[in-house]
Amino acid sequence: MTQTEDFSEPILSGAGASDYERYLRTDELLALQPEPGGWAHRDELLFTTVHQSSELWLKLAWNEVEEATRLLDGGELAPAIRLLRRASLCLQYITGQLDMLEQMSPWEYQVIRKKLGHGSGFDSPGFREIRRATPALGQAFSRLLRERGLVVVELYVQGREHEELYQLAECLIDWDERLTLWRMRHYKVVSRIIGDEVVGTQGTPVELLGGLIKQRFFPELWDARNRLTALANEE
Ligand code: HEM
Repeated sequence: MTQTEDFSEPILSGAGASDYERYLRTDELLALQPEPGGWAHRDELLFTTVHQSSELWLKLAWNEVEEATRLLDGGELAPAIRLLRRASLCLQYITGQLDMLEQMSPWEYQVIRKKLGHGSGFDSPGFREIRRATPALGQAFSRLLRERGLVVVELYVQGREHEELYQLAECLIDWDERLTLWRMRHYKVVSRIIGDEVVGTQGTPVELLGGLIKQRFFPELWDARNRLTALANEE
């Protein structure tokens, strides 16, 4: 008699009734949000879901940026471009999910806020890693430009002759733009929930967040646009 495999039985080790739960460690994952008994307000589930899922996407994003940088250092442009597209998509997702926070009442949020201690977004591990990893990406790009004896404006003017490098430059500006779009959206959410003339849980004036919107990781890529316009005007 031939033995048939029982696909309903788990074969992986670990906690959980099924292999799905064991591989994804859903028991642990779903135990990471405050339980109803400990809620100061039931919107804590919404609040922690948005923050925790953002941290997961940020973790994927910086890992892709770091690997892309390593690939670029080895001269591999096409696979780096693939990973950078993913990284920007991660930022797009976390920007979209900020909408959910605006479903909270600003008054009721104050109850949750009291539980945050000195917790501040400046200590977000994902965003910290992004701030750490991004400059190296810019350096890898600049090195490639130098190797080809190009400056950014030349790359754009002769874009078709340096297709991959051009695509890479666009991936970098996408990444920079997506970071700013997240910051803009976050600033608006913060203003709408706690106001724009108050200080945060770590004493930072919310106004300062508005200022960070101007920060650019790759200023030379933005400045190249000004130069291209000036160049076109000279013609
Ligand atoms: C109700 C929703 C939110 C409020 C009221 C809020 C409030 C604030 C405030 C006041 C700051 C300034 C630092 C401080 O003093 O705390 C800040 C910074 C920050 N928050 Fe939020 N935040 C919210 C949602 C989020 C979410 C969902 C994330 C996702 C990870 C996040 C990530 C950050 C980061 C990364 C910073 C540093 C900003 C930067 O470097 O540009 N925040 N937030």
